[in-house]
Amino acid sequence: MLDGTTTEGIPYTPKGGRPTVIYHPAAGGHWIASWQIAASLGTPFVLVANDIYPHTPDDGLQGVVDADGNCPFQKVGYTDYHGSKLYHNVSLDVAHWLEMNQGDGGQKLASMPFVDILYVDWLDDWIPTPVAGLDVDFSDYAKAFAHKVRDGGLILLDLKHSDVDFELSWFDIPPDSFEVHSGVTLEHLGCIIQRKEEGFAHFNGAPNQHNIIEVFKVHNDHLSGEMNEGVLKRLDLLNWFATIDRVFCTQGAISEEVNA
Ligand SMILES: C[S@@+](CC[C@H](N)C(=O)[O-])C[C@H]1O[C@@H](n2cnc3c(N)ncnc32)[C@H](O)[C@@H]1O
Repeated sequence: MLDGTTTEGIPYTPKGGRPTVIYHPAAGGHWIASWQIAASLGTPFVLVANDIYPHTPDDGLQGVVDADGNCPFQKVGYTDYHGSKLYHNVSLDVAHWLEMNQGDGGQKLASMPFVDILYVDWLDDWIPTPVAGLDVDFSDYAKAFAHKVRDGGLILLDLKHSDVDFELSWFDIPPDSFEVHSGVTLEHLGCIIQRKEEGFAHFNGAPNQHNIIEVFKVHNDHLSGEMNEGVLKRLDLLNWFATIDRVFCTQGAISEEVNA
């Protein structure tokens, strides 16, 4: 059981041969927390950070700068990619992109193929919230998104908002393993502390911070009944990675491996 003292990254082994897909809905300016997780994986990744309002790395208020005052992220391409802006961090060696998506977080998740890691810190606004009650807890909120995480993937619950003075019942976590849907179970692995981000700071001077994150392993029998995403979603995944091959000049290697 992770006990909150681990700072060596998340307990996740990337699936070989393809980028890890990470989604952070309603991220606001806190996209930097999921960026940090993604950048420490050491393998290719696609990080999709969503918010209903624009938040980009080169934004004058919510953006980031390095020690020289430059934004370490470059915009990839001049046009939007399916309504998103794409960024690339020049000092990170592995193939990756940061997709800044503006729109409804729930609709974006519905349009995506299965994700490997879902990073959540705010469970209001972008999902239908459960009717309040004494027995409402994280498992009720997770009904809106857990089935979109692949079998063996992770849900990371950032506790950033857990100390607000009004009660947020999504921070009540059932013990051990719990079923969210038929065929979808979350195994609570415990929590980790994420180190401060390194190499850049928020443009607006907001302090860097440690993040405490509850970690859940997803057991997803996605071939059963309504959870089956079907062939179309798989094709979406292939197109996505074919685009990555083009953008990062990997000569088809990534999409070929996904296809294998
Ligand atoms: C309390 S803030 C949390 C921001 C950030 N995740 C953090 O922890 O600092 C809530 C965020 O939800 C965003 N939001 C509101 N409705 C949304 C929706 N339907 N889809 C996506 N984001 C939404 C807001 O713009 C805002 O950035």
